Amino acid sequence: MKIFVTGTSGYIGGSVAKVLVDAGHEVRGLVRRRESVGSHRQAGIEPVVGSLDDAELLGSIANWADVTVNAASSDHFWAAHALIESLSGTGKTLIHTSGSSIVGDDAAGMYASTVVHADDMPFEMMLNRSPRNEIDRLVRSAGIHRGIRTAVICPTMVYGRGLFEKADSDQIPKLQKKSAQAGAGVYIGEGKNIWSNVHIRDLAELYVLAIERAPSASFYFAESGELALRDVAGAVSVSLGLGGNTQSWSVDDAVAELGLWPRIALGTNSRVRATNARRALGWVPTQPGLIETVSNNL
Ligand SMILES: NC(=O)c1ccc[n+]([C@@H]2O[C@H](COP(=O)([O-])OP(=O)(O)OC[C@H]3O[C@@H](n4cnc5c(N)ncnc54)[C@H](OP(=O)(O)O)[C@@H]3O)[C@@H](O)[C@H]2O)c1
Repeated sequence: MKIFVTGTSGYIGGSVAKVLVDAGHEVRGLVRRRESVGSHRQAGIEPVVGSLDDAELLGSIANWADVTVNAASSDHFWAAHALIESLSGTGKTLIHTSGSSIVGDDAAGMYASTVVHADDMPFEMMLNRSPRNEIDRLVRSAGIHRGIRTAVICPTMVYGRGLFEKADSDQIPKLQKKSAQAGAGVYIGEGKNIWSNVHIRDLAELYVLAIERAPSASFYFAESGELALRDVAGAVSVSLGLGGNTQSWSVDDAVAELGLWPRIALGTNSRVRATNARRALGWVPTQPGLIETVSNNL
């Protein structure tokens, strides 16, 4: 198949593109930095230099492709809008990437029992999460009303080495940086808050399954386990040779240093179950868990 992937110089998009090339697909990747052009060509990904803000470019490559995977941003409304407008009525496939902070709270390190068990289970959303969710709804709705086969994949805390240009994910590397400075694995408050997680290889396989068989307008959380952030901090500490020692960080100090990230991610609960991925797509995660992967720098 001809597949257009956005964000291929990034962690998720690059990993998905690599798996698709390895499976024999013809892949074009959107890159905004010319430095990435050479590595893309070497990996068999045809680079398209441009930005998510260029609606015309997005539309023309999406129309070249049989399938478009938007993995550059969960939050760029106009890119999702442009892809939908240009693909409308074509019957082609659009897979969009969301993120499980849509179910997050503002717990500052405290435990919460809420788990979104089924991907289509209604859940109460904090106001600051709704813009991302509105994009997910736009994409899914286009899968019903606009003559496009759409699906949304919603990754949780992604860990493991990326498969292409960008090896590092988001949350674990930020935690490692702060923990290296602190001399101990850090967590917010009591560190009892819990995040679901997924290995990058398992996540990339989920995109392949969604491309092959997702019914239109469907939604998939991607998770294969969950951990309290205090335990994640322990693994981070081991990965840095800090003996598993951990240390609490107050949410106010963390916000003063890092901005809102501790309140929208690190100190929050984001607990989901990949029910649709397992039941509807037959997804079976096979990769090692987060503790093993991070502790051993795998
Ligand atoms: N990693 C996770 O654990 C995780 C979990 C859930 C959801 N998500 C969400 O999934 C999305 C991708 O995550 P990621 O970890 O792969 O991020 P990433 O490593 O930062 O990759 C983002 C990619 O998109 C490209 N990009 C961003 N804005 C662009 C623009 N305006 N025009 C063209 N290209 C643009 C980046 O290009 P450059 O290389 O030029 O920067 C990069 O290739 C993000 O929205 C993230 O919030 C991530």
